[in-house]
Amino acid sequence: MRLSFTPSTLASALLASSVLTLTLPAAAQSLDAAGFQQIETAVNALAPKMVAWRRDIHEHPELSGQEERTAKLVAAHLRHLGMEVQTGVGGTGVVGTLRGGLPGKVVALRADMDALPVEEKTGLPFASKQKAQYHGKEVPVMHACGHDAHVAMLMGAAEALAGMRARLPGTVKFIFQPAEEGAPVVPDSNGKVPSFGAKSMVEAGALKDVQAIYGLHITSNLPSGVVGYRSGPLMAGSDSLSIQIDGRGGHGSSPWMAVDPVVASSQVVLGLQTVVSRQLNISKEPAVITIGSIHGGTRYNIIPDSVEMLGTLRTFDEEMRAEAMKRIVTTAESIAASSGAKARVTFGPVAYPVTTNPAALTEASLPALRETMGGKVMIIPKVSGSEDFSEFQKVVPGFFYFLGAPQQGQDFAKAPSNHSPLFDIDEAQLPVGARSLAALAVDFLKRP
Ligand code: NI
Repeated sequence: MRLSFTPSTLASALLASSVLTLTLPAAAQSLDAAGFQQIETAVNALAPKMVAWRRDIHEHPELSGQEERTAKLVAAHLRHLGMEVQTGVGGTGVVGTLRGGLPGKVVALRADMDALPVEEKTGLPFASKQKAQYHGKEVPVMHACGHDAHVAMLMGAAEALAGMRARLPGTVKFIFQPAEEGAPVVPDSNGKVPSFGAKSMVEAGALKDVQAIYGLHITSNLPSGVVGYRSGPLMAGSDSLSIQIDGRGGHGSSPWMAVDPVVASSQVVLGLQTVVSRQLNISKEPAVITIGSIHGGTRYNIIPDSVEMLGTLRTFDEEMRAEAMKRIVTTAESIAASSGAKARVTFGPVAYPVTTNPAALTEASLPALRETMGGKVMIIPKVSGSEDFSEFQKVVPGFFYFLGAPQQGQDFAKAPSNHSPLFDIDEAQLPVGARSLAALAVDFLKRP
């Protein structure tokens, strides 16, 4: 996940929705009691193992695309459980296949394995001291987004389900993916950026025969042990963009002899803010355009030749995304042209689709989710961060949800958010996450 909730918006939404959702009558029993019980018992027995895995992975985080150690650990575990294991799937990805004793459908569960270039400041006894290369520089590395917990949960779910293999009506694929946070992207000789993360696993055939996929993200900004979800668009599509404004350099004392790209780019930054506020139909879905970086010039009295800007576009609807891209290009080019400069707009290399939970799969999955969570399930607002789980959802119906796990004793509205150097989790939620994933998989296989 590349960005977190706004705690204040979320807190008010939770207050509003918790009353509604948590008091709903008990949902229909979707798992037979024995199956549900067996999952819960098995997963609870694995809690100490999951904590140990999580701490080990936390202490040895690996950047996107470099998840060699984590992948080895995962593959060894899945082999030990007697699964067919494929490694090197779309990079360092691992896929374990568990064939049940009864014929049936194929469902996938997914965890992401990568960490972030963040210096850990939690002071935990198993805090990371790891360093790695990132864009040619040595950087500290930390599991600041909780992917260590995702791996431990899915390893736990795998062991629990392997234990009930004989009664499993179908096949479960365990997908451990690299580079969710985006690999350090270097264009090839044709200027193309190679695929990474979920997209590269899809291209390598990880979803072959799979009929549905489930995944979760742990967050410190929901109450502990509460699942947050929504049907339809859940997380934004994310497109990075760069704009080069070419003018004509000259002396700062005589701007009429030059074409000033600094002034033109300033106008472009402001003009781009009218794309969302004046040009897109935001009554349909929200959108965000942010310019996060602007560089040009070397000295106080020299007008430079050009200025470069980097930014991000966030959308929740494919049509609006295409429209926004078109408007960004027109707005930047026209404003630059008005002063004799030229704007060149390029989108990418980041291009994550909208994370969308299909209504049918969401509705069908909710009874099992409510049951396994003891009713602690609520609808949350849209999240303007993005997730490459969306790449799996482009290929098969997929359901993605959040699990609240702020560090014990922390108020979820104030807890350090995902990607913070102080981010930590409540390890008591590891079996809860594993249980929910296992229950959703079994429920999907059992549904006609
Ligand atoms: Ni994340």
